[in-house]
Amino acid sequence: MLRLAVLVSGGGTNLQAIIDRVADGSITNTEIAVVISNNHGVKALERAEHAGIPAVCVSPKDFEDRRAFNRALLETVNSYQVDLIVLAGFLVVIPEEMIDQYENRIINIHPSLIPSFCGTGYYGLKVHEAALERGVKVVGATVHFVDKGTDTGPIILQRAVEVKEDDTPERLQRRVMEEAEWKLLPQAINLIANHRVQVVNGRTRIQ
Ligand code: GAR
Repeated sequence: MLRLAVLVSGGGTNLQAIIDRVADGSITNTEIAVVISNNHGVKALERAEHAGIPAVCVSPKDFEDRRAFNRALLETVNSYQVDLIVLAGFLVVIPEEMIDQYENRIINIHPSLIPSFCGTGYYGLKVHEAALERGVKVVGATVHFVDKGTDTGPIILQRAVEVKEDDTPERLQRRVMEEAEWKLLPQAINLIANHRVQVVNGRTRIQ
């Protein structure tokens, strides 16, 4: 059984997709051990509680500095003895110690086709604003392993979504979620849970 820690910051629609796909059996051999948010009172924590999953908030606001927060975050994850950390809209820089300890065991969903519109400053709605500003015709989402760079780790899955003439950043964000993110993230977890993802020379091999 693959034990997950799902890390969230806000709405938690990607978390909900994981909860639903575990419940309907599309994701097998997997259990969500804990949901951790860096923000108090967010909808994602409610979603976890509603599904009967331990929901914990570790907020930087409750610690005197970043080091103390990073340590608490890592200790919280470790205390649930998880096999995979899933960043599902977790808008916090992951501490280096966590990346060292969980090498190729942290995955992230990013709302663009990496290497476009990714890296520092590209998160949430900003990604879709930048894509519309540039005038690209195809966008999408990527699930990747997390390394020490920003959005630079081995790519696991990607899916393209077409831009429409009348798209606003909000409409495009919603369509990328519906058509790509909510499918890709559960699919990637299921592949990992069933030992179908290998990392070789910084790239993934999917069986
Ligand atoms: C999602 O679109 C996710 O791809 C994005 O934040 C949103 C969270 O939504 N993540 C990033 O931009 C990471 N760089 P959710 O809380 O409803 O899942």
